[in-house]
Amino acid sequence: MYVCLCKGITERQLKAAIAEGNADFMDLKRELGAGSQCGKCIPVALAILAEETAKN
Ligand code: FES
Repeated sequence: MYVCLCKGITERQLKAAIAEGNADFMDLKRELGAGSQCGKCIPVALAILAEETAKN
């Protein structure tokens, strides 16, 4: 499932980036470009980030 349509970033890509140590949203933005255009994906990306970091 696409999380960020502007950059074509999937949930799987986001989770992989988080697992690789990108521990906050600025890391994901820098690494993948998430949220760097319209910003509509930011709430969903933050929810995935919270979910994934809670597992670790
Ligand atoms: Fe992610 Fe637009 S959907 S920046």
